Amino acid sequence: MTTMESLIGLVNRIQRACTVLGDYGGAEGTLPTLWEALPSVAVVGGQSSGKSSVLESIVGRDFLPRGSGIVTRRPLVLQLHKTEEGQVEYAEFLHLPKRRFTDFSLVRKEIQDETDRLTGKTKQISPVPIHLSIYSPNVVNLTLIDLPGLTKVAVEGQPESIVQDIENMVRSYVEKPNSIILAISPANQDIATSDAIKLAREVDPTGERTFGVLTKLDLMDKGTNALDVLEGRAYRLQHPWVGIVNRSQADINKNVDMIVARRKEREYFATSPDYSHLASKMGSEYLAKLLSKHLESVIRARIPSITSLINKSVEELESELDHLGRPIAADAGAQLYTILELCRAFDKIFKEHLDGGRPGGDR
Ligand code: GDP
Ligand code: NA
Ligand code: MG
Repeated sequence: MTTMESLIGLVNRIQRACTVLGDYGGAEGTLPTLWEALPSVAVVGGQSSGKSSVLESIVGRDFLPRGSGIVTRRPLVLQLHKTEEGQVEYAEFLHLPKRRFTDFSLVRKEIQDETDRLTGKTKQISPVPIHLSIYSPNVVNLTLIDLPGLTKVAVEGQPESIVQDIENMVRSYVEKPNSIILAISPANQDIATSDAIKLAREVDPTGERTFGVLTKLDLMDKGTNALDVLEGRAYRLQHPWVGIVNRSQADINKNVDMIVARRKEREYFATSPDYSHLASKMGSEYLAKLLSKHLESVIRARIPSITSLINKSVEELESELDHLGRPIAADAGAQLYTILELCRAFDKIFKEHLDGGRPGGDR
């Protein structure tokens, strides 16, 4: 692993440990600030625009509930941890520590069940996030957040306030300056009506932390194409637009697997008369790399402030441990130690390899 990969990995683990500790109600001081100082990617878009499908493609696994209507009803904070080659892929929920899921269809079922535990089997939503970590040699170190889709009207079984509730929930994630916005719009709808772009423009007017993603290119009317959007003429962002072809509902029903879907997506772009000239910058694999590279540059730029926050946290954690005395509530104590160790590791790697934080210092 490169130094940067291990730093991003550490950032992931610090975020996770802070979350666990947050659940015990501990460490009120700099830890929440530390979490917020670390970047994550929030997926935003209208209902059924393909948000969950894009996330699955980035992970390269089948594990999220998807489909028509309101499926994602609680935020899902998804942390991807890159492990060494040859390691078995597994998933772990924060609410089920010590249980390792290797069957990803059970991960989907647990997301559904855990959603229902708070909201019942309704069309209601809840802002309480579900935390899931995936450990795999095939992922890039990233924190991604899947969110309920923006809607325009309440449906049967939903309170009138739901439209605003969803918008507020999504906004609370994307308005943080450290949040990277993955704005998903379907190609078979006019980009001028995109909920994702509307919200992204509001919270990030310069477009520096927004990545525009255009899904459903395969569903456009014959004789039309999305070059205006993909080439940045319809709506300009600082980062290039990425076009995506996810699995259709028919593919999902037929259990078309991820590897096959990725290959079909590559073929789609390579052989398309409209898009073949853009093929190397399209598709979910390219999007994953683009995001990871961006995250790396964001973290690199923030290293000095992250380090000083970390030093502050270390001091705070030490005094908190002293204050609590040992033994304290065993789990909370263990988490404090974990964070302390992770923070020290981050600081150490940073000092050893990043040459005082000068840009490009480690390569
Ligand atoms: P979400 O509500 O935004 O999370 O959207 P989902 O990922 O659940 O997808 C909604 C529906 O659209 C599912 O039936 C997907 O199979 C379908 N879908 C998503 N992206 C594409 C795409 O690029 N092409 C096609 N043909 N269908 C897609
Ligand atoms: Na949906
Ligand atoms: Mg969804």
